[in-house]
Amino acid sequence: MELILDTADLNAIKEYDELLTVSGVTTNPSIITKTGKEPETALAELIDYLRPEQKLFVQTVQTTVEGIVEEARYIASLRPENMYAKIPVTREGLRAIKLVKQEGIKVLATSIYSPDTGFLAAMNGADYLAPYVNRMCNFGDGVGQVIDLQRMLTVHGLPTKIVAASFKSVQQVHDLIVAGIEAVTVPPEVLKNMVDHPGTPIAVDEFSVAWEQAYGRSTLRA
Ligand code: G3P
Repeated sequence: MELILDTADLNAIKEYDELLTVSGVTTNPSIITKTGKEPETALAELIDYLRPEQKLFVQTVQTTVEGIVEEARYIASLRPENMYAKIPVTREGLRAIKLVKQEGIKVLATSIYSPDTGFLAAMNGADYLAPYVNRMCNFGDGVGQVIDLQRMLTVHGLPTKIVAASFKSVQQVHDLIVAGIEAVTVPPEVLKNMVDHPGTPIAVDEFSVAWEQAYGRSTLRA
């Protein structure tokens, strides 16, 4: 299972990269704009920070086939390895995915709202699919539809992986990990709630108080 950070906030990336086992970072145009930096600066800082084995996903902005292909080539050129072009699954995006895959560019098909669109992007050669779990929940059973997509890929023997995205709750992430999802990209706000269960520090305080009362110190050894 790959845990990916859905943010371009370098402080949050450093915090969770030190704390957890992080496979990479996903961005999109909204996420880049939230940094308040020029895109070139934001991307350069991410590339500088990430270790070579950590993946970086950067989204194309143009909406024509030619524009998407050109930007996917640019994205691929930014880093020698583990660089992925995120391409939304519009009609133009689906066509562009076929074209850039012929050039060996790594692709994450994104903005997926239905298992069927995701499956078609996988048939076009996408390496990863990003179904938008919470946004899909606004139209029905988002988690269930992502599980359907996972079954569709398995049944048809496609090598494409799902990196489930657009999470708004720990429960959504939990349900997909239980279902065997291969990757999740989680924003820091949701990840914080996965990490910081309020029960743990209460338990640790109980242990500390008991130890201090019994032995008059806060260390294991005297
Ligand atoms: O990578 C961004 C994707 O996860 C969408 O998230 O929060 O805009 O639905 P959101």
